[in-house]
Amino acid sequence: MLKAVILIGGPQKGTRFRPLSFEVPKPLFPVAGVPMLQHHIEACAKVPNMKEILLIGFYQPNEELTRFLLNAQQEFKISIRYLQEYAALGTGGGIYHFRDQIVSGGPEAFFVLNADVCSAFPLKEMLSFQKEHGEPNSFVILGTTANRKQSMNYGCIVENEQTNEVLHYVEKPSTFVSDIINCGIYLFNPDIFQHIGTVFQKNQQDMLLDYFSCREEPTNGWHRAEAIRLEQDIFTALAGQGKLYVYKTLSFWSQIKSAGSAIYASRLYLNQYHTTHPERLASNMEGGPKISGNVYIHPTANIDPTAMLGPNVSIGTGVTIGAGVRVRESIILHGANLQDHCCVLNSIVGWDSTIGKWARVEGTPSDPNPNDPYAKIDSETLFRDGKLTPSITILGCNVTIPSEVIILNSIVLPHKDLNRSFKNQIIL
Ligand code: GDD
Repeated sequence: MLKAVILIGGPQKGTRFRPLSFEVPKPLFPVAGVPMLQHHIEACAKVPNMKEILLIGFYQPNEELTRFLLNAQQEFKISIRYLQEYAALGTGGGIYHFRDQIVSGGPEAFFVLNADVCSAFPLKEMLSFQKEHGEPNSFVILGTTANRKQSMNYGCIVENEQTNEVLHYVEKPSTFVSDIINCGIYLFNPDIFQHIGTVFQKNQQDMLLDYFSCREEPTNGWHRAEAIRLEQDIFTALAGQGKLYVYKTLSFWSQIKSAGSAIYASRLYLNQYHTTHPERLASNMEGGPKISGNVYIHPTANIDPTAMLGPNVSIGTGVTIGAGVRVRESIILHGANLQDHCCVLNSIVGWDSTIGKWARVEGTPSDPNPNDPYAKIDSETLFRDGKLTPSITILGCNVTIPSEVIILNSIVLPHKDLNRSFKNQIIL
């Protein structure tokens, strides 16, 4: 039997996702109409013999997370549990800390998935690859290719082209190493814990050494020893040992670091719905709004038939969209109200926000190649050389935009009531 672990991180991790992560833990932010994590869970639940999905992170379990887990368990008919780390233990430390829970029931293998990626999740293909290519008990990293500049923001892999063994692994190198990057999706078996255990023991010894030589206060000792990074501490050492292999996928993949990359990820998932969930895609119907390209509309949204939506638009629960409204490349979160003839382009409109009549809310996408829906993007940095870079516009929750103003390339923090136009600003 198989299991899957999803690394969901914690509140300090989603900072590039602000102001949206103030309202909802980043892994629950809706992408293409459903919480980001649901795409992972759905993919895991489809793998034959998958018995359990464990979410590991350091969020305080709240009502929203608990409700999401209960609903997902019912919908996908699989056990899903949240295991909370006592502190951020890193990408390897969390799975090591909860190793007993992972190996209980005797899974022969388990997947580990970063929560902040968007992917077609070729998990079955990774299993077949492991059987055909890897040595018995080898570990598999899902890889994809990136251009030279992009690659340095990721884990970089040098492979043996014949066997696909990972010969060399460098996490976010400062100079070019390889165009094969780590997608943050792995197939392991319980042997991985021996390797993590070796690092843990070494960390513990170093810690005791520091303590007895009075080099450091023993505060946070266990935490320090248990904080282990899969990438730098494990993969770098396993490379070239005949244990670690890379399965390169041609299917779509992207990181979801910033709010801007959520719009991009939404586009990729909406496109995938043609094969996986055609029922989630809106179509042009008599008496309905004009739909162009891929659009998701929650059934509770109330949309005027003269509105025009798409491509790449997701409309959340209870959203109201008035006459003549135009929305393109945007995510509209639940309860938002888009009044008559307003225009929303390349933006995220926060929960319960209102956009007045004839107002224009617009961002500039930093997508390198808008014609290629599969082009990867770097996670956007808001500032470069101290200047605000072209960016999507984000309205936090419960923001009010008056009629007939323009909000361009700006970020508006929650509960703001604006009274004029803004351009290239963060409105606190
Ligand atoms: N449970 C838990 N505990 N999860 C964590 C922790 C932790 O202490 N730290 C990070 N994570 C989760 C994050 O929520 C995210 O889903 C994932 O682990 C990776 O997070 P980062 O540490 O921010 O790494 P990264 O995204 O910059 O890079 C990683 O992912 C890339 C692919 O998206 C690396 O694995 C790269 O090599 C890889 O290319």
